[in-house]
Amino acid sequence: MLRLRPAALVTLMRGAGGEGRLGDPPAVLLIPSLFPVRRCSTPPQPVIAAKQPFPVELKAGKKYGWCACGHSKNQPFCDGAHKKAAPGISPLRFTPEEDKVAWLCGCKRTRSPPYCDGTHKEEAVQSAQLPTQP
Ligand code: FES
Repeated sequence: MLRLRPAALVTLMRGAGGEGRLGDPPAVLLIPSLFPVRRCSTPPQPVIAAKQPFPVELKAGKKYGWCACGHSKNQPFCDGAHKKAAPGISPLRFTPEEDKVAWLCGCKRTRSPPYCDGTHKEEAVQSAQLPTQP
């Protein structure tokens, strides 16, 4: 960010044809290159891989990568598809502390990833069109 001391600002204003009064917009401060525009972009959104969770037997101490982008062909686990299809989304890596059967989210809208929290029952998920499989 460009920061100027008041004396330097008045000098700039006079140099740009301003009178140094606060009411006059100094032309030099309107040069776009001095104030680069930050473009806002929408973060990538996951696609709905399934409208229900996947029951999975998890092993204690084993490392898993839950697909967070929805593009994996190995649901609910990551197959690396995010690198090309959704570069801004990374898989959620987790290691269970005990052997258990868990319901891993397939809709990718859960608020407690990687586990299903029932969000898939919402209308937005149930009425969504699933991506077509090749
Ligand atoms: S499958 Fe995503 S919240 Fe249940």
